[in-house]
Amino acid sequence: MFKKLFSYIIPLNIYKQKSKISQTLEVTWTNGQLVLDSNNTNYSYGSLQRILRKGLRSIGFEKIRNMKKILVLGVAGGSVIKTLVDEINYTEKIIGVEIDKAVIEIANDYFQLDKIQNLEINIDDALEFVLKTEDTFDLIIIDIFQDTKMPDFLFEKVFTDRICHLLNAKGFILFNTMIVNKNQKQLNLNYIESFNPNTYRVTKLNKMEETNELIIIEKIL
Ligand SMILES: C[S@@+](CC[C@H](N)C(=O)[O-])C[C@H]1O[C@@H](n2cnc3c(N)ncnc32)[C@H](O)[C@@H]1O
Repeated sequence: MFKKLFSYIIPLNIYKQKSKISQTLEVTWTNGQLVLDSNNTNYSYGSLQRILRKGLRSIGFEKIRNMKKILVLGVAGGSVIKTLVDEINYTEKIIGVEIDKAVIEIANDYFQLDKIQNLEINIDDALEFVLKTEDTFDLIIIDIFQDTKMPDFLFEKVFTDRICHLLNAKGFILFNTMIVNKNQKQLNLNYIESFNPNTYRVTKLNKMEETNELIIIEKIL
């Protein structure tokens, strides 16, 4: 309780470890909330959770509540999963894919992710997982960062084609990106243009928490 109150004055780090994927993983009390950060950015809870919540709101909480299966690529501390379960009251299946086992241990120890009954976690590379899974989904959340960097495969045709194949009709993709330079801005524009407008409706929410841009893709057929 003291740590939580004190964190309104100054952030209080309570756990830190080195990470090959994220440089560091840090659990910190900040403004009365426990957050997970990598070396240079917020991973879970805090601003990241606010960004994805706005994306989910723009799809519609009611619509999400009626979905049958959701895929979350990039789990970290699981803040978007908590939004789905605690705020949207989503009770159907959630499949999470996370490359870093250490991150899931932190998610369980500090954020009680293992208490969520309708969640199945796979420790795997997101690209490999989507290439081999035979499940299909009503919502696919792509939130993959290695510290502030997004791996190249996220913008490659093989990944996008496969994600679109796994998406059910009338389903949604929610893709969180970070615009840190002009190249990334152009990459996002090219990505958006690659979707056939007869099959997909693409919208973007930009300048979220300064640097993030959410791309929302709806399969209209
Ligand atoms: C911003 S965090 C995800 C935050 C999470 N969606 C939430 O709501 O709290 C990004 C995560 O992507 C994971 N990641 C990075 N590369 C990956 C890959 N190739 N496959 C799966 N996960 C990956 C990182 O380990 C990190 O945990």
